[in-house]
Amino acid sequence: MSTKDYLNKIIQGDCLDVLKNFENGSVDLVVTSPPYDNLRAYNGYKFNFEGIVKELFRVIRKGGIVVWVIGDATIDGSETGTSFQQALFFKEAGFNLHDTMIFKKRNPIPQVYRKRYTNEFEYMFVFSKELTKVHNPIMVDCLHAGLQLNGTTYKNYSKDIQTRKKMAKPVKDKKIKGNVWEYVVGKNKEDQPAKEHPAPFPIKLVEDHILSWTNKSDVVLDPMCGSGTTCVGAKKLDRNYIGIDISKEYCDLAKKRIKEIPADLFSSKVI
Ligand SMILES: C[S@@+](CC[C@H](N)C(=O)[O-])C[C@H]1O[C@@H](n2cnc3c(N)ncnc32)[C@H](O)[C@@H]1O
Repeated sequence: MSTKDYLNKIIQGDCLDVLKNFENGSVDLVVTSPPYDNLRAYNGYKFNFEGIVKELFRVIRKGGIVVWVIGDATIDGSETGTSFQQALFFKEAGFNLHDTMIFKKRNPIPQVYRKRYTNEFEYMFVFSKELTKVHNPIMVDCLHAGLQLNGTTYKNYSKDIQTRKKMAKPVKDKKIKGNVWEYVVGKNKEDQPAKEHPAPFPIKLVEDHILSWTNKSDVVLDPMCGSGTTCVGAKKLDRNYIGIDISKEYCDLAKKRIKEIPADLFSSKVI
């Protein structure tokens, strides 16, 4: 077996076993969300975190990206810190911590008040194997478009140099989007087919990462694909997908979603 045998398929199994059959450097992008802190009882839960990270490092190509979406449970008044521990292990395994991004939920689940603010985000740790090769930045409108602004100081930490530069004059119309991404969770029409899974990604989150870190025909993997959102996004955007989940029920759901992708699901431009 090789990675090619799994292209554009949903595979039922423990991802650690399935990944053993992949060639070194054969995947361009991973977008995934692992089970964490026993927050939810998924069918057939079994999770060897360190083993999976080492396999991901082997199968991702140089310059490729892993997007790891995770939060922390609060137990006896203290957040577990699982997210940070996992991020540091990725670095130990050889990955760069390319960016710590935030998935902000526009409609967070209401919580019991425990003398703290409502939790409304998860981390999206973006790891790269060596330096990132592909970045197709999403652009947004500049708040101060057309205005004359003063200079600002930049520090290049890699070279330990500090410079004071003028900002664009006048400010341009568009700029690169920030690293806090906000989505409505579970309510949008295009996310309804995933409802039988307890924790699906918003499809737009997946779409934004796929557009950012890959080009057409690249290989996008979700080793714990649940309802198959990453694979649906990859297929719609003309990338190759591979989805793995330990649960037959979730694999069946993912296959059904992929089969039923409506032609008008996305409005984004395919790169
Ligand atoms: C947070 S959910 C992923 C949801 C997914 N992002 C979506 O959009 O539906 C985590 C998934 O990991 C799966 N899982 C747990 N252990 C696994 C393993 N060892 N190998 C493959 N899948 C596993 C669970 O069945 C569950 O569906």
